Amino acid sequence: MSLLTVNGNFPGPVIRVHKGDLVFVNVHNQGDYGITLHWHGVKQPRNPWSDGPEYITQCPIEPQTNFTYEVNFTDEEGTLWWHAHSDWTRATVHGAIVILPSEGSSFPFPEPDGEDIIVLGSWYEEEKLNEVLNEDLAAGSDVPRATGYMINGQFGDFVPCSKETTYHLFVDYGKTYLLRIVNAAVSAEHFFSIAKHNMTVVGMDGAYTKPVVTSYITIGPGQTMDVLLTTDQSLGRYYMAARRYSSEDTSVTAFSHINVTAILQYKGNYSLTSPPIFPSDTLPGFYDYFAAANFLAQLKSLANEEYPISVPLNISTRMFITASMNELLCANDSCASGDSKIATSLSNISWVNPSIDVLLAYYRNISGVYTSDFPDLPPMWYNFTGDDLSTSLAVAAEGTKVKVLNFNETVEIIFQGTNLLTGSETHPMHLHGHSFYVVGSGFKNFDNESDPQGYNLIDPPKVNTFSVPKKGWITIRFTANNPGVWFWHCHIDRHMSWGMDTAFIVLNGGTEETSMRPPPSYMPPCTDASKIALK
Ligand code: C2O
Ligand code: CU
Repeated sequence: MSLLTVNGNFPGPVIRVHKGDLVFVNVHNQGDYGITLHWHGVKQPRNPWSDGPEYITQCPIEPQTNFTYEVNFTDEEGTLWWHAHSDWTRATVHGAIVILPSEGSSFPFPEPDGEDIIVLGSWYEEEKLNEVLNEDLAAGSDVPRATGYMINGQFGDFVPCSKETTYHLFVDYGKTYLLRIVNAAVSAEHFFSIAKHNMTVVGMDGAYTKPVVTSYITIGPGQTMDVLLTTDQSLGRYYMAARRYSSEDTSVTAFSHINVTAILQYKGNYSLTSPPIFPSDTLPGFYDYFAAANFLAQLKSLANEEYPISVPLNISTRMFITASMNELLCANDSCASGDSKIATSLSNISWVNPSIDVLLAYYRNISGVYTSDFPDLPPMWYNFTGDDLSTSLAVAAEGTKVKVLNFNETVEIIFQGTNLLTGSETHPMHLHGHSFYVVGSGFKNFDNESDPQGYNLIDPPKVNTFSVPKKGWITIRFTANNPGVWFWHCHIDRHMSWGMDTAFIVLNGGTEETSMRPPPSYMPPCTDASKIALK
């Protein structure tokens, strides 16, 4: 089996920078498909041209060609990651980004004695994953599912082929380690726990949090978490285990290896005969979505004088967006017309990638690529989370519909997960180009009267990805202060590929510093027509 990797590594190389650094990454595509790279959680102020999602901000870098990304690190600090953003190439093309405090400053917690990176990944049997994916999408059928999960590229010693190569973290007794945890799995949320050891969460998504002491974390695809680990247990070996967390219906049992392990091993003189201890009492179960939500509800921004936050209080644009499973009638695909195909949607619009990128079309005023009528309100109000929703409500429309925002608009979005087609799942929603504050969340239908009373406007978590709970909602706020085109999607790629996406166009603010930069002259061309348009 051959894999597409970056510089021969899987997971790919770590990018280590200080806050405020500027990095150029030259990508030479020696693979068989067009690819793009994305710097997940790096805001790239005024520079959407290097953000990466295919057909949103650029066309793919074709095989045997190259492209240079300019990555602007501004206010992020902690751990983020980079990944391919074309088809599902990111299954093997991803790596961590470590952003240290700017030179001369320190962490808002005591300097750890050591640090390590834990990348959670997923494994697909399909050697030509992108081809199978695109065939499945065209046929309207289910798309590939991972057959295993990984920690730093290894399944762990429960799986024979990985027994010898299981990832080990060697530690000294009585120290504190900073673990930088990235969930790079294509479509799986995870629980992660270390036998007998608590963790203290101190950051997520490249921003610091108030410390949360916990025996497990919930981490959705796209999310990153910084945790402190104190090695205060008896000398020995302890499993660090991730377990897939599924909010899909319990009838879905297609997962053979839901536990993946690595080993925390104390250095020192002791007998290694006893097997490592498994965190069986702290790692939540496969379907435990209350455990998932309970962990996430504890996360709060550090929000002190040194690390202030700015939650918008007066909202200029309020949106209500539903996230659903849908059905679409087959038209001109390879699924027979009259049949229906699997789809997902935001507000019943199932995103279709255009053939040239939205950013180029916006910048060059090319019509016919997207429309600016992404709906603000659901088509009707009903019981979104009921168990008997009419399937007639689940017919979505396909479209490339974006939402246009003025520069510096203060935006509130209520995300409602629906149970259409009894397909409610959690949706880790990710916004490019901005961080957002999660001011509220809950199960069931959002209640416009009572739920806003409970909003946290003091220290809500500041993130780039956050899960809408199964049959539940979240409310987020952000200031649209980054001119450009920014993708907005569920980070479970199954859902993303079926259409759970849209984009914001944030207009220029009228001065040079509030306007997006012009494109570099060497953007990858889309089609012959757009090559002309670029001149
Ligand atoms: Cu992790 Cu659209 O990205
Ligand atoms: Cu989703």
